[in-house]
Amino acid sequence: MHVHVLTIFPELFGPFLATSLIGRGIAEERLVVEVHDLRDYAVDKHKSVDDEPYGGGGGMVMTAAPWIRAVRSLGGALPPTARRRRILLSPQGRRLDDAKVRQLAADYSHLILLCGRYEGIDERVRRTVVDEELSIGDYVLSGGELPAMVLIEALSRQIPGIVGLPDSVENDSFRRGLLDHPHYTRPRRVEGLEVPPVLLSGDHRRIAAWRRRKALEATLRKRPDLLARAELDDADRRLLEELRAELEATPGSGLENDVPEAPAEGLQRPGWRRNNTDPACHLGEDTSDESA
Ligand SMILES: C[S@@+](CC[C@H](N)C(=O)[O-])C[C@H]1O[C@@H](n2cnc3c(N)ncnc32)[C@H](O)[C@@H]1O
Repeated sequence: MHVHVLTIFPELFGPFLATSLIGRGIAEERLVVEVHDLRDYAVDKHKSVDDEPYGGGGGMVMTAAPWIRAVRSLGGALPPTARRRRILLSPQGRRLDDAKVRQLAADYSHLILLCGRYEGIDERVRRTVVDEELSIGDYVLSGGELPAMVLIEALSRQIPGIVGLPDSVENDSFRRGLLDHPHYTRPRRVEGLEVPPVLLSGDHRRIAAWRRRKALEATLRKRPDLLARAELDDADRRLLEELRAELEATPGSGLENDVPEAPAEGLQRPGWRRNNTDPACHLGEDTSDESA
């Protein structure tokens, strides 16, 4: 996958592209990202890329000419075999989701990402050199750079070899229409909460069954809307019936956020707050039984 980014703030991408899985993917040439300064395509000697809006009102609008020149120049330089997509990051676009990320990764070899600023980009850019508008959510940011990074990072997880263990991508939330199961690591006991014993059993069949059940439960509790399109077999459907019955039979278990209750002893311990969204909450670790 080869990604071209057009922005007036190329410096925002430096640490992002040099760090963690993306940094390694780029070093190993599994992913190529070229960040271009839109001002290099400005047509006047001041390198201006914005102007006042026709019709008046506040703010500035990005002018069409630099964008059209830049996108045509980058597009014209792609190899003839390139499967190209020109994407405008915009709060007005289709909302990005896992299916869209996978479709882009599968269908295109080259992406050109347009990161707007100010009030946005002159509408004629969208109409002449854009194939698709994508949004990262129903809120407005000041620029398209963070949305472009979100898209690049999500795409990178679809590129073979960037995430070391293919299973982690396969089990990611949304992949088969379900949320991921909960994860635990050392120590065995944190704030009085124990790791579920099955995860210590070494029995891979039981562990897989537990993880499937917990993925179904997490989806039922947090995102029941996903279940209508999830890949479920008969055993899953039976489990869901059981889980629904359990939820209904347990007062207060609700379909709201799945935050475990503090055990009584935990309440006595310094640092514990029942409401763990409290910023004062310090999640202390209990390592006393780590060797147990
Ligand atoms: C301040 S916004 C312009 C918003 C525009 N006036 C509107 O309300 O539709 C400037 C730029 O940020 C980017 N942007 C802002 N929010 C975004 C979102 N949710 N998803 C993708 N891009 C976004 C777009 O590139 C946009 O051109």
